[in-house]
Amino acid sequence: MLKPSLKDARVRTRKEVLVKTNDYIIDNNLKELGKNKTYYVKTYGCQMNEHDSENIKAILEDMGFTESINMENADVILLNTCAIRENAHNKVFGMVGRVKTLKETVNPNIILGICGCMAQEEVVVDEILNKYRHVDLVFGTHNIHRLPKLLSEIINKHNKQIEVYSIEGDVIENIPVKRDSKYKAWVNIMFGCDKFCTYCIVPYTRGKQRSRMPEFIINEVKDLVRDGYKEVTLLGQNVNAYGKDLNINYNMENLLEDVAKTGIERVRFVTSHPWDFTDTMIEVIAKYPNIMPYIHLPLQSGSSKILKLMGRRYTKEEYLTLFNKLKKALPYSSITTDIIVGFPGETEEDFNETLEVVNECKFDSAFTFIFSPRVGTPASRMQDDVSLEEKNERLQRLNKLVNKYSKEANDRYLGKVVKVLIEGVSEKDDNHLMGYTDTMKLVNVKAPIEYIGKIIDVKITDVKTWSMDGELNE
Ligand code: 5AD
Ligand code: SF4
Repeated sequence: MLKPSLKDARVRTRKEVLVKTNDYIIDNNLKELGKNKTYYVKTYGCQMNEHDSENIKAILEDMGFTESINMENADVILLNTCAIRENAHNKVFGMVGRVKTLKETVNPNIILGICGCMAQEEVVVDEILNKYRHVDLVFGTHNIHRLPKLLSEIINKHNKQIEVYSIEGDVIENIPVKRDSKYKAWVNIMFGCDKFCTYCIVPYTRGKQRSRMPEFIINEVKDLVRDGYKEVTLLGQNVNAYGKDLNINYNMENLLEDVAKTGIERVRFVTSHPWDFTDTMIEVIAKYPNIMPYIHLPLQSGSSKILKLMGRRYTKEEYLTLFNKLKKALPYSSITTDIIVGFPGETEEDFNETLEVVNECKFDSAFTFIFSPRVGTPASRMQDDVSLEEKNERLQRLNKLVNKYSKEANDRYLGKVVKVLIEGVSEKDDNHLMGYTDTMKLVNVKAPIEYIGKIIDVKITDVKTWSMDGELNE
């Protein structure tokens, strides 16, 4: 048993990051282990987790398992978890309870595994060991490649497996992937984070910042182009810092340029941190038509006092300067953000400053959250002095304003013709297809099914706060 350690997860040394190209190995005898058995992976949280699940699914299929569309019939159930806020925790523990019932009533041999960011938390693993004894497997974000070995121990030897490394991490390059889409793909460009914003658990659950070597990224994108993919999203906690940990004088602007030159039709990237956003990066985005004019630029707070307490390394004014620079260079772009309300010490004046920034930036949309103290982070030790009532009230006021600007931003599209990458059938209406504009606006359109996977011209006929309707413009 190897449990996570918060103390070890904090450590940052100058130890060299190793690029490992043959750490994922699957013995021939493990390739049959999942024969006639099914798996179900439930993913919580961010795109990084979505992509990790694509790796996990490919590994399970390497072992002979097939995917089950519902949890009830699965032999192996894996919950790929998120630790960013308390409600993410609660959802997972709710699901762990449901699987307990399944084990008791339907199939006692179900293997239940927990992986992802919650598995990297010492407090969570202790809780699982004490209270949720029906969990058979816990593995973390650093050892996805060990899944065949861990599963074989459980299946062949009936041993519970807890294996979580609290390390800074290396880069493992040979993990297989089963992509959810045939048209758009996630591509990791870096792992981990060294920013240590005071509220954030990610630097502890994902290790230190490790950029992938450019050639691995470019080759992955070239393969995707060859396979007919239309869009890639370059993934990292803090993509603008890409390359800073490599000693090769190659950074995010170089990477963006090289990825754009592969000829892939759409390039996106998330998430940006204002601190590392350079002028040359803005120039590169403006120069290449296949780099999408969409930037997710978390603000977190509009008060410089709170930003300082959050360890965000920029002031309200610096954020606004960057925002305005982006809008000037990319007038057509859409910019979205993340905002936390109720951070310790946030007064009514501080919150009003956040509203002021929202009024000035008029974001295309914003993800808004109530501060959630995470064990081990500096902010969890600050005095949480804003009442829950006040936090809820601020969130509502903020959402009202954010939604007003989302609708206004969408209104500008009415009657316009936009390019939409059609991804599939609309969730709300079988007769419609859905996709996203270059600026990441969700569009529903009545079009023949053959249009799935194509970038088509759509004329916008109706706009709502979170989506738009359109018709084919042929
Ligand atoms: N509490 C509330 N929101 C948080 N986020 C990250 N950590 C916390 C926390 N402890 C939000 C930030 C981040 C987004 C992914 O989640 O806004 O940008
Ligand atoms: Fe968390 Fe800050 Fe790193 Fe983003 S940049 S993952 S908010 S520590």
